[in-house]
Amino acid sequence: MSTFYVTTPIYYVNGEPHAGHAYTTIVADALARYHRIKGDEVFFLTGVDEHGANVHKAAENEGISPQAYCDKMAPTFTQLWERLHISNDIFLRTTSDMHKRGVKKFLTALYDSGDIYKGPYEGYYCRPCERFFPEKELTDEKICPIHKLPLEWTEEENYFFRLSKYQDRLLARIHEDPQFIYPESRRNELLNVLKSGLEDISISRSSVSWGISLPFDPEHVIYVWIEALTNYMTALDYETEGERYQTFWPADVHMMAKEITRFHALIWPAMLMAVNLPLPRQVVAHGWLTKDGEALSKTRGIFIDMDGDIATYGVDAFRYYLLREFSFGNDGDYRPARLHARYNADLANDLGNLLNRVLGLVNKNFEGIPEPTTPGEFDAEIKQMAQTTVDKLDAHLKAFAFDAALETIWEFVRRINRYIQQTEVWTLTKPETRPRMGTILYNSLEALRLISVLISPFIPETAEKIQKQIGLVAFDTVAEWGRLPVGLTVSRGDPIFPRLDTKKEKQPQLKASAKSKQKQEPETTDLVSFADFQKLDLRVARVLAAEPVEGADRLLKLQVDFGTEKRQVVAGIAEHYTSDALIGKQVIVVANLEPATIRGIESQGMILAGSGDSVVLATLEKEMPLGTQVR
Ligand code: MSP
Repeated sequence: MSTFYVTTPIYYVNGEPHAGHAYTTIVADALARYHRIKGDEVFFLTGVDEHGANVHKAAENEGISPQAYCDKMAPTFTQLWERLHISNDIFLRTTSDMHKRGVKKFLTALYDSGDIYKGPYEGYYCRPCERFFPEKELTDEKICPIHKLPLEWTEEENYFFRLSKYQDRLLARIHEDPQFIYPESRRNELLNVLKSGLEDISISRSSVSWGISLPFDPEHVIYVWIEALTNYMTALDYETEGERYQTFWPADVHMMAKEITRFHALIWPAMLMAVNLPLPRQVVAHGWLTKDGEALSKTRGIFIDMDGDIATYGVDAFRYYLLREFSFGNDGDYRPARLHARYNADLANDLGNLLNRVLGLVNKNFEGIPEPTTPGEFDAEIKQMAQTTVDKLDAHLKAFAFDAALETIWEFVRRINRYIQQTEVWTLTKPETRPRMGTILYNSLEALRLISVLISPFIPETAEKIQKQIGLVAFDTVAEWGRLPVGLTVSRGDPIFPRLDTKKEKQPQLKASAKSKQKQEPETTDLVSFADFQKLDLRVARVLAAEPVEGADRLLKLQVDFGTEKRQVVAGIAEHYTSDALIGKQVIVVANLEPATIRGIESQGMILAGSGDSVVLATLEKEMPLGTQVR
């Protein structure tokens, strides 16, 4: 049996969890659940980081002891994880005895390795990050690049870890396995850090009291980051090196957002090298969830109204939206309007309606699930598609492409909807066609059972509801075609995703926005179908000539070349581009837009550009032949 050990960062308890923490934890949960249905033995760790000056300060602000403060804050995380149906196997608290014992053992081993020495430290420190920033990474203002807050000049006597010694071994590790740091953008970033040279890092604080003391010098407290990294082993009860530790170390995936990859992919592996322990197999980082383009931040009060959205759409819709809409590895802006659109289009329409329709037809025409006696058109194709869906899902998840994974499942959902349409199954009620009707409905239910298995890592509550409605008593996790028993009594259950109309849905949003004083979302937009999108003919063209339009300050008249033809296009970019800057540039043009006359000049297309406070032309990352279609 394969094993799979996945971790989230342990989150600081100096504030309540927000949607950013939820995103990482949902992503890790989806992986853990996926590996469980594949039959792997899984261990899924999440937890909280409770030590350090930051937490101490938060406790002081409330006038309670740090321990009392942590005891109050830790449940805000566990409660959220329960609400979001997170299936973690452990919730590690760094104030627990098991962790403390493991940390002491690890630090003793590190000390014995000879890579620890004492020395003075001075530098710019960010309290919310709990880390020093090298001067070369700062501007003159000495502002934290992450929190945008002033850094504190700090001087103290510390213990150091000889990180620099591991430079070459780290490089070798990264080169030997291109997947070790994922995605490539993060790998390249860390290769650059390595190129500019690693400095030794301080691993203790003499000015901080809330933490675990160094086993070899109790006057010092272990630097909270060094302590925190060891949690991935202490959670397996590293101190006893018992069965759990033997089974699951090294971790398969350390999941996190991009800002802490340096700790996980350089410092942590170097610490493990120093004590001769195996390294985690993969350090994986996603981008940041943003709100109106800004990073979420406890300190700066920028947050997402997760509670309001979960109350309106349900936990699974929230999970689905985050996993389906964000391209893993990149930043993504959280938009309730998109959540609304996904809810109605994918969940209510595609999936919810399919289930309802099939159950309705079975109930109306049969006593329980009918026998598939009469194969016919499309059946083999659907069975084949079930298998390719399973295979593609696996490939996408290996690449952490949750959006593509869900899209693959939804292609299958939509195929089954089409199967119902194509076969006009509802008309096959005559005695001679009823066996075929029964077969089509059996296949549709089997497809729904399979879909429920495949969606269970992402939207587990929905998966269970579907299986219950089709009459299964215990949750079936096997993604193989043909397992659905004949004769089960199906229920005509409540719609799993009742359609929410825009007006009704707007109420809670308005209230939530007023409460959080956030900007109002734009009007809800429904999704366009892929077919509609395909109607757009976007093409690469080169600007041959550009000249101002008399009497219109904002307009430029451009001649563009598609390779096979030349066209005239009027664009409102004169305030942002001079004619000279445009000539020779490749641009993307909507080639099949109805011609329009602007200020008496015919415009035969539209040039794409990002338009906000400034306007920036859209181009391809590299030049391509003129006339190339952009999709
Ligand atoms: N305690 C350290 C981690 C130690 S792990 C050995 C820490 N804690 S944190 O509370 O700041 O959590 C950071 C993590 O929370 C990110 O790496 C990410 O997993 C998650 N996120 C916090 N804000 C986020 C977004 N805005 N978007 C996505 N994930 C976010 O760092």
